[in-house]
Amino acid sequence: MHNETIILKSPDEIETMRRANLIVAEILNKLKEYVRPGASTMELELVTAEEAKRHKVKPAFKGYRGYPFCLCTSINNEVVHGMPSKSRVLEEGDIISIDFGVLQSGFYGDSAITVPVGNVSADVGRLVRVTAESLERGIQAAREGNRLSDIGYAVQSCVEAEGFSVVRDFVGHGIGRELHEPPQVPNFGLPGKGVRLKAGMVLAIEPMINLGDSNVKVLDDGWTVVTSDKSCSAHFEHTVAITPDGPYVLSRL
Ligand code: MF3
Ligand code: CO
Repeated sequence: MHNETIILKSPDEIETMRRANLIVAEILNKLKEYVRPGASTMELELVTAEEAKRHKVKPAFKGYRGYPFCLCTSINNEVVHGMPSKSRVLEEGDIISIDFGVLQSGFYGDSAITVPVGNVSADVGRLVRVTAESLERGIQAAREGNRLSDIGYAVQSCVEAEGFSVVRDFVGHGIGRELHEPPQVPNFGLPGKGVRLKAGMVLAIEPMINLGDSNVKVLDDGWTVVTSDKSCSAHFEHTVAITPDGPYVLSRL
Protein backbone atom coordinates (compact mmCIF):
# COMPACT_ATOMS: atom_id res chain seq x y z
CA MET A 1 0.00 0.00 0.00
CA HIS A 2 1.23 3.45 -0.94
CA ASN A 3 2.17 5.50 2.15
CA GLU A 4 0.27 8.53 0.86
CA THR A 5 -2.98 6.54 1.04
CA ILE A 6 -5.69 8.43 2.88
CA ILE A 7 -7.10 6.27 5.69
CA LEU A 8 -10.91 6.36 5.68
CA LYS A 9 -12.70 6.23 9.04
CA SER A 10 -15.91 4.28 9.72
CA PRO A 11 -18.94 6.06 11.25
CA ASP A 12 -18.02 4.46 14.64
CA GLU A 13 -14.44 5.71 14.36
CA ILE A 14 -15.73 9.19 13.50
CA GLU A 15 -17.84 9.15 16.69
CA THR A 16 -14.74 8.13 18.68
CA MET A 17 -12.91 11.06 17.09
CA ARG A 18 -15.87 13.31 17.94
CA ARG A 19 -15.45 12.43 21.63
CA ALA A 20 -11.72 13.26 21.55
CA ASN A 21 -12.31 16.50 19.68
CA LEU A 22 -15.13 17.59 21.99
CA ILE A 23 -12.68 17.45 24.89
CA VAL A 24 -10.26 19.59 22.85
CA ALA A 25 -13.11 22.07 22.25
CA GLU A 26 -14.07 22.17 25.94
CA ILE A 27 -10.49 22.79 27.03
CA LEU A 28 -9.92 25.52 24.43
CA ASN A 29 -13.18 27.14 25.52
CA LYS A 30 -12.02 27.07 29.15
CA LEU A 31 -8.66 28.60 28.19
CA LYS A 32 -10.42 31.68 26.79
CA GLU A 33 -11.31 32.62 30.40
CA TYR A 34 -7.61 32.77 31.24
CA VAL A 35 -6.64 35.05 28.36
CA ARG A 36 -6.24 38.53 29.91
CA PRO A 37 -3.51 41.17 30.22
CA GLY A 38 -0.98 39.96 32.80
CA ALA A 39 -1.45 36.21 32.22
CA SER A 40 1.63 34.29 31.13
CA THR A 41 1.43 31.64 28.44
CA MET A 42 2.78 29.15 31.02
CA GLU A 43 -0.42 29.71 33.06
CA LEU A 44 -2.41 28.54 30.04
CA GLU A 45 -0.11 25.52 29.73
CA LEU A 46 -0.58 24.55 33.39
CA VAL A 47 -4.38 24.86 33.18
CA THR A 48 -4.30 22.67 30.09
CA ALA A 49 -2.18 19.97 31.72
CA GLU A 50 -4.64 19.83 34.66
CA GLU A 51 -7.69 19.74 32.39
CA ALA A 52 -6.18 16.96 30.28
CA LYS A 53 -5.65 14.92 33.47
CA ARG A 54 -9.21 15.59 34.62
CA HIS A 55 -10.59 14.39 31.26
CA LYS A 56 -8.15 11.42 31.23
CA VAL A 57 -6.74 12.28 27.81
CA LYS A 58 -3.15 12.40 26.60
CA PRO A 59 -2.02 15.82 25.31
CA ALA A 60 -1.09 15.14 21.69
CA PHE A 61 1.77 17.57 21.13
CA LYS A 62 3.90 16.90 24.23
CA GLY A 63 6.72 14.61 23.08
CA TYR A 64 5.74 14.89 19.41
CA ARG A 65 9.10 15.22 17.61
CA GLY A 66 10.48 16.37 20.96
CA TYR A 67 8.00 19.25 21.43
CA PRO A 68 8.01 19.90 25.22
CA PHE A 69 4.50 21.31 25.93
CA CYS A 70 0.77 20.50 25.72
CA LEU A 71 -0.03 23.78 23.98
CA CYS A 72 1.32 25.94 21.22
CA THR A 73 0.82 29.61 22.16
CA SER A 74 1.66 32.02 19.34
CA ILE A 75 1.37 35.76 19.98
CA ASN A 76 1.07 38.58 17.38
CA ASN A 77 3.86 38.07 14.79
CA GLU A 78 4.21 34.42 15.86
CA VAL A 79 2.32 32.23 13.38
CA VAL A 80 2.32 28.75 14.98
CA HIS A 81 4.33 26.53 17.34
CA GLY A 82 5.08 29.28 19.90
CA MET A 83 6.15 27.73 23.21
CA PRO A 84 4.57 28.55 26.58
CA SER A 85 6.85 30.49 28.92
CA LYS A 86 6.58 32.06 32.40
CA SER A 87 8.22 35.19 31.03
CA ARG A 88 5.83 35.64 28.12
CA VAL A 89 3.06 37.82 29.53
CA LEU A 90 -0.03 38.86 27.54
CA GLU A 91 -0.68 42.57 27.02
CA GLU A 92 -3.81 44.47 26.03
CA GLY A 93 -4.00 44.60 22.22
CA ASP A 94 -2.22 41.26 21.66
CA ILE A 95 -3.73 38.32 19.83
CA ILE A 96 -2.85 34.77 20.86
CA SER A 97 -3.30 31.58 18.87
CA ILE A 98 -3.86 28.61 21.18
CA ASP A 99 -3.39 25.24 19.46
CA PHE A 100 -4.23 22.02 21.33
CA GLY A 101 -4.65 18.34 20.57
CA VAL A 102 -5.39 15.13 22.47
CA LEU A 103 -5.17 11.38 22.03
CA GLN A 104 -8.14 9.43 23.38
CA SER A 105 -9.24 5.83 22.64
CA GLY A 106 -6.58 5.57 19.93
CA PHE A 107 -7.60 8.67 17.97
CA TYR A 108 -6.40 12.26 17.84
CA GLY A 109 -8.28 15.54 18.08
CA ASP A 110 -6.71 18.85 17.00
CA SER A 111 -8.04 22.42 17.05
CA ALA A 112 -6.86 26.01 17.41
CA ILE A 113 -8.39 29.39 18.14
CA THR A 114 -7.06 32.94 18.04
CA VAL A 115 -8.19 35.10 20.94
CA PRO A 116 -7.86 38.91 21.23
CA VAL A 117 -6.43 40.17 24.55
CA GLY A 118 -8.78 42.99 25.54
CA ASN A 119 -9.23 45.58 22.78
CA VAL A 120 -7.17 45.13 19.61
CA SER A 121 -6.61 47.49 16.68
CA ALA A 122 -9.22 47.56 13.90
CA ASP A 123 -6.91 45.82 11.40
CA VAL A 124 -5.95 43.08 13.82
CA GLY A 125 -9.60 42.56 14.79
CA ARG A 126 -10.47 42.19 11.11
CA LEU A 127 -7.56 39.75 10.62
CA VAL A 128 -8.94 37.51 13.37
CA ARG A 129 -12.53 37.63 12.06
CA VAL A 130 -11.50 36.97 8.45
CA THR A 131 -9.25 34.05 9.46
CA ALA A 132 -12.17 32.46 11.37
CA GLU A 133 -14.44 33.07 8.37
CA SER A 134 -11.88 31.55 5.96
CA LEU A 135 -11.87 28.36 8.05
CA GLU A 136 -15.67 28.20 7.76
CA ARG A 137 -15.37 28.60 3.96
CA GLY A 138 -12.78 25.82 3.88
CA ILE A 139 -15.05 23.58 5.97
CA GLN A 140 -17.97 24.18 3.61
CA ALA A 141 -15.78 22.99 0.71
CA ALA A 142 -14.93 19.75 2.56
CA ARG A 143 -17.61 17.64 0.96
CA GLU A 144 -17.97 14.56 -1.23
CA GLY A 145 -17.56 15.26 -4.91
CA ASN A 146 -15.27 18.24 -4.37
CA ARG A 147 -11.51 17.90 -4.72
CA LEU A 148 -8.88 18.58 -2.06
CA SER A 149 -7.75 21.91 -3.54
CA ASP A 150 -11.31 23.26 -3.37
CA ILE A 151 -10.71 23.67 0.38
CA GLY A 152 -7.57 25.77 -0.09
CA TYR A 153 -9.19 27.74 -2.89
CA ALA A 154 -12.13 28.63 -0.63
CA VAL A 155 -9.79 29.75 2.18
CA GLN A 156 -7.48 31.74 -0.09
CA SER A 157 -10.29 33.55 -1.94
CA CYS A 158 -11.83 34.67 1.34
CA VAL A 159 -8.51 35.90 2.76
CA GLU A 160 -7.11 37.66 -0.32
CA ALA A 161 -10.39 39.52 -0.94
CA GLU A 162 -9.67 41.24 2.40
CA GLY A 163 -6.04 42.01 1.51
CA PHE A 164 -4.48 39.43 3.85
CA SER A 165 -2.10 36.63 2.86
CA VAL A 166 -2.05 32.85 3.29
CA VAL A 167 1.00 31.16 4.82
CA ARG A 168 2.34 28.59 2.32
CA ASP A 169 5.06 26.86 4.32
CA PHE A 170 2.70 25.16 6.80
CA VAL A 171 -0.50 23.31 5.94
CA GLY A 172 -3.35 21.30 7.42
CA HIS A 173 -3.37 17.51 7.45
CA GLY A 174 -5.29 14.26 7.61
CA ILE A 175 -5.80 13.06 11.19
CA GLY A 176 -6.86 9.80 12.85
CA ARG A 177 -4.76 7.20 14.66
CA GLU A 178 -1.84 9.55 13.87
CA LEU A 179 -1.75 13.31 14.52
CA HIS A 180 -0.53 13.88 10.97
CA GLU A 181 -1.79 11.58 8.22
CA PRO A 182 -2.02 12.08 4.48
CA PRO A 183 -3.16 14.21 2.77
CA GLN A 184 -1.54 17.59 3.33
CA VAL A 185 -4.26 20.27 3.27
CA PRO A 186 -2.94 23.58 1.89
CA ASN A 187 -4.84 26.80 2.57
CA PHE A 188 -4.28 27.98 -1.00
CA GLY A 189 -4.65 26.62 -4.52
CA LEU A 190 -6.72 26.48 -7.68
CA PRO A 191 -10.13 24.80 -7.62
CA GLY A 192 -10.69 21.24 -8.89
CA LYS A 193 -7.21 19.79 -8.24
CA GLY A 194 -5.96 16.90 -6.13
CA VAL A 195 -7.77 13.86 -4.77
CA ARG A 196 -11.53 13.60 -4.81
CA LEU A 197 -12.97 14.03 -1.31
CA LYS A 198 -14.78 10.98 0.07
CA ALA A 199 -16.95 10.20 3.08
CA GLY A 200 -14.73 8.85 5.87
CA MET A 201 -11.87 11.27 5.27
CA VAL A 202 -11.02 13.32 8.36
CA LEU A 203 -9.03 16.53 7.85
CA ALA A 204 -7.53 19.14 10.17
CA ILE A 205 -8.09 22.39 8.28
CA GLU A 206 -5.96 25.18 9.75
CA PRO A 207 -5.56 28.50 7.95
CA MET A 208 -2.58 30.60 9.11
CA ILE A 209 -3.20 34.13 7.82
CA ASN A 210 -0.88 37.15 7.88
CA LEU A 211 -1.71 40.86 7.95
CA GLY A 212 1.38 41.49 5.80
CA ASP A 213 3.04 39.20 3.27
CA SER A 214 3.00 35.39 3.39
CA ASN A 215 6.69 34.83 4.24
CA VAL A 216 7.58 33.11 7.51
CA LYS A 217 10.68 31.77 9.21
CA VAL A 218 11.47 29.43 12.12
CA LEU A 219 13.31 30.96 15.10
CA ASP A 220 16.53 29.51 16.53
CA ASP A 221 14.51 27.62 19.18
CA GLY A 222 13.67 25.27 16.30
CA TRP A 223 9.89 25.64 16.78
CA THR A 224 8.47 29.17 16.81
CA VAL A 225 7.29 30.22 13.36
CA VAL A 226 7.15 34.02 12.87
CA THR A 227 6.23 36.34 10.01
CA SER A 228 9.29 37.66 8.17
CA ASP A 229 7.84 41.19 8.04
CA LYS A 230 6.86 41.08 11.77
CA SER A 231 3.18 41.60 10.91
CA CYS A 232 0.46 39.92 12.97
CA SER A 233 -0.77 36.44 12.12
CA ALA A 234 -3.95 34.58 13.08
CA HIS A 235 -4.71 30.84 13.12
CA PHE A 236 -7.87 28.76 13.53
CA GLU A 237 -8.14 24.99 13.19
CA HIS A 238 -10.93 22.41 13.20
CA THR A 239 -10.90 18.65 12.77
CA VAL A 240 -13.56 17.92 10.13
CA ALA A 241 -15.03 14.58 9.00
CA ILE A 242 -16.44 14.31 5.48
CA THR A 243 -19.78 12.47 5.68
CA PRO A 244 -22.57 11.67 3.19
CA ASP A 245 -24.50 14.50 4.88
CA GLY A 246 -21.68 17.05 4.46
CA PRO A 247 -18.87 18.30 6.68
CA TYR A 248 -19.07 17.25 10.35
CA VAL A 249 -16.94 19.60 12.50
CA LEU A 250 -15.73 17.21 15.19
CA SER A 251 -13.98 19.95 17.22
CA ARG A 252 -16.98 22.31 17.36
CA LEU A 253 -18.34 22.83 20.90
N1 MF3 B 1 -1.95 21.79 15.23
C1 MF3 B 1 -0.52 21.66 14.98
C2 MF3 B 1 -0.32 20.64 13.90
O1 MF3 B 1 -1.24 19.97 13.59
C3 MF3 B 1 0.21 21.38 16.21
C4 MF3 B 1 1.43 20.56 16.15
S1 MF3 B 1 2.57 21.18 17.23
C5 MF3 B 1 3.64 19.94 17.59
O2 MF3 B 1 0.70 20.53 13.29
F1 MF3 B 1 4.33 20.30 18.57
F2 MF3 B 1 2.96 18.87 17.93
F3 MF3 B 1 4.35 19.67 16.54
CO1 CO C 1 -3.09 20.51 13.17
